[in-house]
Formats: sequence, structure tokens, C-alpha cells
Amino acid sequence: MAQLWGGRFTKSTDQMVYDFNASIGFDQKLFAQDVRGSRAHVKMLASVGVITDAERDEILAGLDSIEADVNSGKLEITSEYEDVHSFVEANLIDRIGDAGKKLHTGRSRNDQVALDMRLYTRDAVETTAEDLKHLLGTICGIMEEHIDTIMPGFTHLQKAQPITLAHHMGAYFEMFKRDVLRLNDIRERMNYCPLGSGALAGTTYPLDRNMTAQLLDFYGPTLNSMDGVSDRDYLIEFLSALCTIQMHLSRFSEEVIIWNSNEYRFVEIDDGFSTGSSIMPQKKNPDIAELVRGKTGRVYGALMSLLTTMKGIPLAYNKDMQEDKEMAFDAMKTVQDCIVLFDGMLATMTFNKDVMANSAKNGFTNATDAADYLVNHGVPFRDAHGIIGQVVLYCIDKGIAIDDMSLEELKAISPAFEEDIFDAISMETCVNKRLTIGAPGHDAMVNEIKECKAFLA
Ligand code: ARG
Repeated sequence: MAQLWGGRFTKSTDQMVYDFNASIGFDQKLFAQDVRGSRAHVKMLASVGVITDAERDEILAGLDSIEADVNSGKLEITSEYEDVHSFVEANLIDRIGDAGKKLHTGRSRNDQVALDMRLYTRDAVETTAEDLKHLLGTICGIMEEHIDTIMPGFTHLQKAQPITLAHHMGAYFEMFKRDVLRLNDIRERMNYCPLGSGALAGTTYPLDRNMTAQLLDFYGPTLNSMDGVSDRDYLIEFLSALCTIQMHLSRFSEEVIIWNSNEYRFVEIDDGFSTGSSIMPQKKNPDIAELVRGKTGRVYGALMSLLTTMKGIPLAYNKDMQEDKEMAFDAMKTVQDCIVLFDGMLATMTFNKDVMANSAKNGFTNATDAADYLVNHGVPFRDAHGIIGQVVLYCIDKGIAIDDMSLEELKAISPAFEEDIFDAISMETCVNKRLTIGAPGHDAMVNEIKECKAFLA
């Protein structure tokens, strides 16, 4: 049990207390960030004359050797240390002696952990945005390929109007695009360096906080030292963005599961992304989509957990804040995995165009267009709505689509129908007449895809 703070204590910590208090089991994930922060800190300390250049070089060499040994597996991060910060400092002192004891000058673990977590989160924000952009590329590819693939659009999960697969995919493009933009916003807002805040009240050493901030690729230092050590807003914002991403993935998964069902058969999930049943030989299950949908709960949980942890904490640092890590790490990894796996599943999925087209045709998705046809032939809309209602009833009775009726059958219901009704209510016409911005018509989609590509460029 190597403690950094033993001096003031007359007896050692009870083992259970030590274990309960320690964070090394999970904060070792911050090892790379901790070493990076220490490098910047000692470079700054030397530049303002708090340590000598020779001491700086000794510390930097010591940090290099610790990092090399940890990365090669020669040095293990063990529960012998309370946290990752103690691990690095104790090993540094073991290796280089007195110079190592100067590493922590003008620094507290409070600003150190605030920095480490911010660096780790900044990387995760960037990686998540990159993964999302890759997914957007996959979606955009499907949009281009299926600009004329007709399918039913749904409201209330009831067939509503014909759309295209490109149009449906385009809706998800917009969602994940907003997610990327949200991540970019978060990165902008969080990119300030808390190191130099000290325990809470800054420090009496003439630290150059601008220099440390610059060395660590921040825009500048945080502006209040109490806030610097106790702010976790950036993490709450990121977890909230992760929740929204996961909610989008979950909706999309739900649709894939429905589309892949024996009843729908709109899509076929690739064998590589499906699993079987131990008892039912015929089964091919959409487990990846189900797991992505299912993992949404733990991501929401991480956000609720941190919001609740933070809500009663007086300024500045309190040990409660150590609880910001485990669930956040889990949420970051979970969402990254979900994006990558969902992307792979989507990229290898095949779309049953005929099934989709038939489903649109046989679901009265052209009923609105049939009513509009009557309006264009002088029938007031409310009357037209009633007439097409009768047409639909007639078709349901006969088990046919509106397109399958003869002109005589149609005329028997309303004399306003003419031969051109059939062209007016074909699926192709219904889709391609919808040309307003954001609508599924071919030319409108060409423009939408252009915008998608511009975003990805
Ligand atoms: N393990 C702690 C955390 O994760 C590091 C900061 C500890 N500071 C302290 N004064 N006990 O928050």
C-alpha cells in the first residue's frame, strides 16, 4: 500500500478502507494521459525556473522509461497503488530518486485527475465523431444505390405513403450528422486546460498555465481554479450526446429487426452479423441489432449516474467525483462498439427490393395520391377523401390494390375517374412527384445526397 500522503497519519489504513477508497482498478485507463500531463507540467516548471533543466530532463527520461515498460508489459499497474497518479509518481521516485520528488510541485491530484479525464474524454469525443462519419459514409452509399428503390413509409407502423430506401436512410443520415455536430460543439467548449488549478486555489508558484495548455493542445487554461478542479459538465455533455447517438442507433436497430423479421423480409442480415439458435435449426437471429438496442439502457444509466453524483457536491473537489469514471468509460466504449458493429451490419445487409416494392403497392400507400387525383379533377378534397375510402374498402373486400381495379370499377364509385388515374397512382409517380426539399422524389433526393456528400467531404 504505497500512499502519497502517509506523513500526517499515525496508523495505516484498514484494508477494506483502502480498497474502497482506491481507484487504480479503473483509473489505470488514464495512464497515457497522466504521463502526458506530467510531461507538460515539468516542461513548464523548468521554463519558469521552479525546477532546473537537468531535473526536467531526468524526470522526462524517467517518465519515458515507465511508459515504455508499461506498454511492453514489463511493468504492471497493480492495486499496490491507490490510483494511477500515485503509481506514476512512486515509480518515478524509485527510478530517478530525488528529482522524481519534484514532479508534483505546484500540482494536486485534483487538477491532475481533472486534466487526465478531460484528455481521455477529448480523445473519445474525437474517435466517436470519426466512427460516426464512417457510418454516415455507409448510409450515404446506400442512399446513392437505392435512390429509386420504392418502399412503404410508415406512421404508427401502418403503411402510409410510398417513399424510397434512399429517403428512409436519409433520415438517419440527418440524425447522425447532428450527432457529429453536437460532438464538435462539445469539443470546442471543453477544450480548456484545468492543470494549474492546484487543489482548488491555484498555487503560489509562478506557473505558466498558458504554456501547459498549449503543450497539451488546449485553446487555453480554465479561468477559475475552483471550477477547474470540480467541473464535470463536459463529461455530462458528452454522456448526453452518447445517449442521443445510442437512442438513434436503437431506433435504427428496431427497424432492422422489424425489416429482417419473417413477416417483413425487407432485408437480409449477412450471416457474419447474425447468430443461430441452440435448439431451433432454422433460426437466424438479428442479435447485433438487438444488443445495440439493449445496450442503450447502460448508456442512459451512465448519464443519470453522473448527474446524480454531481448534484449535491459543494465546491470544490470531493471524493464523490471519483465516481465519474467507471460508468463513463463503459458508456464511451459501449457506444463506440455499437457504432462500429452497426456500421458493419448495415454495410453487409442486403435489401429485398421486390418485397419492399410489393409491400408499398399492396398497402394502399397511394390512397392520398388517388384523392389528390380527384381534387385535380374538380372534386373537393373532403369528398375525394370519402370516395377513396370507399375504393379502399372495395379493394380490401376483393383482396386487390387500387391499381388492380378496372376503370369501370372505379367509375362505378366516382365518375370523376379517367384512364390517366393509373399513371397518377403508380408508385413511381407517387414518389417522383414529391419534389419539395427533403421529399423522396428522385430529383429532390439527388440534391439531398449532394448535401450529404458535401458534409462528409
Ligand atoms: N482518484 C481520485 C479521483 O479519481 C484522484 C483525485 C484524488 N484527490 C484527492 N484529494 N483525494 O478523483
